[in-house]
Amino acid sequence: MEQILKNFFLFMGQNKVATKMAKKYGLRFGAGRFVAGASLESSLEAIKKLNAENLPVTIDHLGEFVDNEEEANEMTNHCIEAIKAISNQNLTSQLSLKLTSMGLDISREMVLRNMKRILEVADEYDVFVTIDMEDESRCQATLDIFKELKSQYENIGTVLQSYLYRTVEDIQELDSYNPNLRLVKGAYKESPSVAFPEKKDVDENFKKIIKMHLLNGNYTAIATHDDKMIEYTKELVEKHNISRDQFEFQMLYGIRIDRQRELRDEGYTMRVYVPYGKDWYGYFMRRLAERPANVAFVLKGILGK
Ligand code: FDA
Repeated sequence: MEQILKNFFLFMGQNKVATKMAKKYGLRFGAGRFVAGASLESSLEAIKKLNAENLPVTIDHLGEFVDNEEEANEMTNHCIEAIKAISNQNLTSQLSLKLTSMGLDISREMVLRNMKRILEVADEYDVFVTIDMEDESRCQATLDIFKELKSQYENIGTVLQSYLYRTVEDIQELDSYNPNLRLVKGAYKESPSVAFPEKKDVDENFKKIIKMHLLNGNYTAIATHDDKMIEYTKELVEKHNISRDQFEFQMLYGIRIDRQRELRDEGYTMRVYVPYGKDWYGYFMRRLAERPANVAFVLKGILGK
């Protein structure tokens, strides 16, 4: 049953009609538990509260699968506005974004142009930018663009997913760029031809890539809510004497808040990923797919309770 629900939410998350309807009608169905709000202002309020608790942030203006130039330019402007707001308000926040919102599906030229506009401002305001990783069909294009941008800009990192068979090789190949990488398990519906179908293999590969990237001496964000992965990382860094300046934990806004505070209290950097914006639907569906127990929130949202 859990697998059926998971597939259902992942499938629904890629439905373009539902995505458009959701944008039109605003945050619904309990999505506010995972999304800081529809506007930049609401997300800045959320960041202030988290920063006041000594939790740094990465802010994400939600948006993906953009198919026209006008919207890609608009998304780019939103990111630039967010960078300036973070800096002007002295907030401790980075920026996360998806290349499909900058025009990846339209043209390489467009996505590079938009990313350069963002990275120029990010450099000026000293805000770090992470390119989220989307589905496998866009992984190579994302990494190619990351490599090209990384050779020109310092303030940029990206994400690798442990569910993909290719990721161990990607870690090796990217090593020469000394990249700041966020490591995750992966959130999209993928075919067994490209991704491990079994959770235990995804977990094993997650440990493997955490170890590889840390021992390569690169900055690593371990982005997970899974205690087993967190404990593994703690033991690994202890054993290899890896400084706490070389890694951080990351979790999503609204998920395992108590655990976030515990890690902070233990002296680890614990960054919270704060999404906001009108394009909340796909993100929300992926969160439901990860944990069908969250469906209770949807039902409460629908019933207006
Ligand atoms: P998993 O889902 O395997 O859960 C393991 C355990 O964690 C559970 O058994 C439970 O104990 C605990 N847990 C998980 N969710 C919980 C909840 N809601 N409440 C209580 N306990 C819970 N993906 C992607 O493809 N591209 C990307 O760019 C990103 N970016 C990203 C940034 C950040 C900061 C995070 C935290 C995650 C992502 N992801 C992502 C999502 C990621 O790929 C993955 O889908 C989710 O993090 C869920 O996997 P976990 O590692 O949390 O463990």
